[in-house]
Amino acid sequence: MADLAGKRIILGLTGGVACYKSAELLRRMQDEGATVDVVMTHAATRFITPVTLQALSGRPVWQDAFDARVSNSMAHISLSRGADAILIVPASTDFLAKLAHGLADDLLSTLCVARGAIPLLAAPAMNHEMWTHPATQRNAAQLRADGVTLIGPAEGFQACGETGSGRMMEPDQILRALTASFQPKLLAGKRVLITAGPTSETIDPVRVITNRSSGRMGYAIARAATEAGAEVTLVSGPTALPCPDRVRRIDVISAAEMHAAVMTHVTGQDLFIAVAAVADWGIANPSPIKLKKSDDAQPPHLDFVQNPDILAEVAALSGAPWCVGFAAETDHLHEHAQAKRHHKHIPVIVGNLAQHVMDAEDTELVIFDDAGAHPLPLQPKTQAARDLIAWIAAHLPG
Ligand code: C5P
Repeated sequence: MADLAGKRIILGLTGGVACYKSAELLRRMQDEGATVDVVMTHAATRFITPVTLQALSGRPVWQDAFDARVSNSMAHISLSRGADAILIVPASTDFLAKLAHGLADDLLSTLCVARGAIPLLAAPAMNHEMWTHPATQRNAAQLRADGVTLIGPAEGFQACGETGSGRMMEPDQILRALTASFQPKLLAGKRVLITAGPTSETIDPVRVITNRSSGRMGYAIARAATEAGAEVTLVSGPTALPCPDRVRRIDVISAAEMHAAVMTHVTGQDLFIAVAAVADWGIANPSPIKLKKSDDAQPPHLDFVQNPDILAEVAALSGAPWCVGFAAETDHLHEHAQAKRHHKHIPVIVGNLAQHVMDAEDTELVIFDDAGAHPLPLQPKTQAARDLIAWIAAHLPG
């Protein structure tokens, strides 16, 4: 299901060059199923025309607090009622100041003051001197204290030609923050350690032994746990995936490095989810130089060492976090997954059929615990991860 299906979002634009990115954001929100009502300040209309946003949204664009199209002249009330969120993109210095002080001198600011319990999110966009100005920082702190979600800003090159903090987040980051705001905070205050991706064992400087794993499932779980309010540390083997927002990622290559990183960060964690496809064996005698093919067609001699079982070791720690393992099997999923769960002494293992999930967008998970098997539907990994996190939150002791 699309992430914003059934949601009605008010997209507020204030004055700033970054208004051009709001058009793309609007499209992306629609792709996710949202209905979008656009409200613009007068300054915003100097940067992008209402016609563009009306054409993209397919709905009237609102600017005037006394709009004659609203029979009782209360556009600020009629628009906000029934909305699921107000999202200000871009949020200018001036608009943040207005919001922080509860000013209501145009339609958008009045709408924000009149919004009641509707969540308000804002993506600041301004020159770095304006963002770091003490007054702006005071206003930002006040807004956070008032429960407003500020998305960014980011550091980087700015439209004015200078570089610093104040650059607006990209539309896809803003979209993810909006989506995250709708997820129930089932793991608020919890600390979660996750392993993901493959590990890679060195044979020589150009050759490795690895497991097939895109890392998608582990990254989706890291994202879902963060959306659910957890503080997430992700120990990741080599993948091509971007780090999920607000996740602390520790990059490793070999199973030995993954083991060391997990043991360093496991203390104080409430939950450990081992999703990584860890190589079972490492090479005891890696070559410092590239091995050459020999004329007698003799392959090189490799000595293997068994890698530590990270999950079993974490589960055996005194004061261990609650442990959730993964089992990708080619056959007899129930038997193999339950046997693995008992062997590693962990309360939960999540099974899937390896041939169905490698590099795929969708997955069909089965959760196994003492009570038996709990199948989830075939669905995108992002949704499967959210369902799994909800199940874990409901079963996590304490
Ligand atoms: O033992 P097996 O690889 O079949 O078990 C899979 C589960 O154990 C996964 O959760 C995987 O992340 C974890 N594991 C581990 N360390 C290993 C091997 C597997 O943490 N060396």
